[in-house]
Formats: sequence, structure tokens, C-alpha cells
Amino acid sequence: MRVGHGWDIHRLAAGRRFILGGVQIAWDKGPLGHSDGDALFHALCDAILGASGLGDIGLHFPDSDPKWKDSDSGRFVAKAVEMAGNRGLKPANADVTVILEKPKLGPYREAIAANMASLLGLSTEKVNVKAKTAEGLGPEGAGEAVSCHAVVMMEEVA
Ligand code: C5P
Ligand code: MG
Repeated sequence: MRVGHGWDIHRLAAGRRFILGGVQIAWDKGPLGHSDGDALFHALCDAILGASGLGDIGLHFPDSDPKWKDSDSGRFVAKAVEMAGNRGLKPANADVTVILEKPKLGPYREAIAANMASLLGLSTEKVNVKAKTAEGLGPEGAGEAVSCHAVVMMEEVA
């Protein structure tokens, strides 16, 4: 078993589409970013790469590369899973924590978990999505940013 951790933060700006875990969130702001700015998928991607000893997201998908402009960040997760597979590793479970003051993620949780499960090749009971406010503190608390932590366990392919 190998464990990996990932973290990401994106500034929220007016008029941007808010995509999180591949799901569109109804909100008047969204993440700035070269790709779709999906902080959850970026953190998840880094957790997979971390567990697999494969560096980090910027190494494989540099934001200087026009190829990744406005990219669906699910592609980064899928590619990380594929690269881990080439090393004989596959996801065993994943847990993420989103720090977002508003809106509440309750209505989106199942859809996000379903996207994660599908990308990781796991059943939905092996993925978990948590959300926290920042109690008004810091950039997330001011509604200026969304951040996400991810932990992934990888196991050797039988
Ligand atoms: O941050 P706080 O402890 O107040 O969050 C309480 C609960 O509200 C969380 O455990 C989570 O279930 C939910 N929550 C949410 N979406 C957010 C923040 C919190 O669904 N953006
Ligand atoms: Mg990011």
C-alpha cells in the first residue's frame, strides 16, 4: 500500500464557471486557472502522483502548455491513474476535503463522488467527499478562494 497527499487552491472570480470534481456548481463566481481550475481534481491528481512517486501535476501538465488551456481536469486524473498503472499501482480508496465558504456542497456531493469513482476505477463506497467552511477566516473564509486536500491509497495491481 502507498499513500499520497495533494492540495490545491484557486482564486474565485466573478463570471467564471465553477467546476469542482467535474460538476458545475451554481454560483456567481468560479475558479481562475489555465485549465478549468478544478481544485478537487488537481488535488486528487497530485495525491495519485504522490503515492506513485511520479512528482506533481505541474511536471506532467504544465500551465505554460496551450494544450491544457481550459482543459477538463478529469483528464489529468485519468492520465495520473494511467501512469500509476504503468508502475503497477491502482487506487484503493480516496478521501477529499473541500474548503469553501459558500455555497453548501451537499447537493453536489454524490455527483462529485461518482465522477471520482469513475476516474479512479472504484466503487462509490471507496471514495469520500467532505466539505468545510473556513469559519470566515482567510481567503476561503472571505469567499475569495476554494481549496482542496486529497488523500489517496494506492495498491499493487494483483
Ligand atoms: O465548516 P462547518 O464545520 O460549518 O461545516 C459544517 C458542515 O457543512 C460540513 O461538515 C459539511 O457537511 C457542510 N458543508 C458543505 N459545503 C460547504 C461547507 C460545509 O456542505 N461549502
Ligand atoms: Mg489547480
